[in-house]
Amino acid sequence: MDRIVVKGSGPLSGQIPIAGAKNTCLKLMCASLLSDEPLTLTNVPRLSDVATLSDLLESLGVQIGRLDDGRTLALSAADLTSQLAHYDIVRKLRASFNVLGPLIGRTGEAIVSLPGGCAIGARAVDFHLEGLKKLGASVDLKDGYVYASGDLKGAEVEFPFPSVGATENVMCAAVRAKGTTVIKNAAREPDTKALADCLIAMGADIEGAGTEQIVVRGVDKLHGATHRVITDRIELGTYMVAPGIAGGEVECLGGRRDLLAAFCDKMEQAGLEITETDAGLKVRHPGGRLKAVGVTTAPFPGFPTDLQAQFMAMMCFAEGTSVLEETIFENRFMHAPELIRMGASIDVQGNTAHVTGVETLKGAPVMATDLRASVSLILAGMAAEGETVVNRVYHLDRGYEQLVRKLRGVGANVERLSE
Ligand code: EPZ
Repeated sequence: MDRIVVKGSGPLSGQIPIAGAKNTCLKLMCASLLSDEPLTLTNVPRLSDVATLSDLLESLGVQIGRLDDGRTLALSAADLTSQLAHYDIVRKLRASFNVLGPLIGRTGEAIVSLPGGCAIGARAVDFHLEGLKKLGASVDLKDGYVYASGDLKGAEVEFPFPSVGATENVMCAAVRAKGTTVIKNAAREPDTKALADCLIAMGADIEGAGTEQIVVRGVDKLHGATHRVITDRIELGTYMVAPGIAGGEVECLGGRRDLLAAFCDKMEQAGLEITETDAGLKVRHPGGRLKAVGVTTAPFPGFPTDLQAQFMAMMCFAEGTSVLEETIFENRFMHAPELIRMGASIDVQGNTAHVTGVETLKGAPVMATDLRASVSLILAGMAAEGETVVNRVYHLDRGYEQLVRKLRGVGANVERLSE
């Protein structure tokens, strides 16, 4: 099992290219099921999650052409051979559950394994299922699978919480339903807006994506399209934190402030200088210690839960005490015990963590538990004395393409060792 070894490196300098968005790309791939004509995706990130979802789609009969060294995928769902999304794949990749809406929208039937929980929380799917029932689907649960079927009719769907996945599943089902669907309290994440843009390119009639109310007028058929995956705002934010911890200046190529406005505001409150350039976003550490800043995670346009761990790693070095409140997932502080092993001063009480900054941390062997917790440990190791060894790096391969290469490219002392 590979591991990553990090040593203190001194100030960073240079450019990091930001890849296409994992969480957008996975849903765009699911949307290919809605048409019998090819959907070509460009700027695809080369990640294990993309490979896993490709396996699932191919098991349904989707043909996938890989071009441009895997950065372009041509997905053709002309001849679907199955409507069963098996537990073996869905349990590895929760986003697989988002084949449910497209499958029932296209074929009127879907059998999809329940995704089950994961390290950060129970990850229920009740909002997804209630939404599909509102569209007229019959939904039964049996032996760990969702059996959904029916000719869908437009309806009003109001979510109790602006769930990203549920909004996307219901939107994909609604594009082929008869009549108009109004989704209220919809997710406003850029990923969800990007999915709507792709569906519109395929001939769907959708208004309001990116706001809390989305109106979908069903159409009989979707045609093929070529669509570019947007920049990954979570990868962007992750690499913006790197100079916040190690010092120096890094330009994140392809970065846009509108993808992360709330996060950028908090980074500036901590003392970092953020400049929009023609090529992306430049982040500069002013020297000395950053200031402690409080954060409460929230649905977009709030501070992203997927950047909470990285921000906490940065606050471990700040002057003062930062209060971090995690409101989206019930168990998303698993990086805290590992940071504490490195000498951080963190007091976790329920969904709130009090982080009191220290001058420096001590490198240690640490364990990765989920995608974002893993990368926060690497970031912390970049300013720790001695060596930090991060195990279970397969978590990282799910969401960070060429992480070691990108960090070494700006002067970080990071290397990957294969067992
Ligand atoms: C997406 O997960 C992302 N994953 C997550 O990124 C991200 O953290 C999350 O949105 C929030 O932004 C993908 O897009 C593949 P939710 P999703 O439905 O859709 C509860 C990463 O690191 N809920 O908005 O599952 C749920 O338990 C991952 O890249 C229900 O109770 O998020 C959670 O507490 C991690 N019932 C909250 O809502 C439901 O039916 C937010 O979930 C659905 C959700």
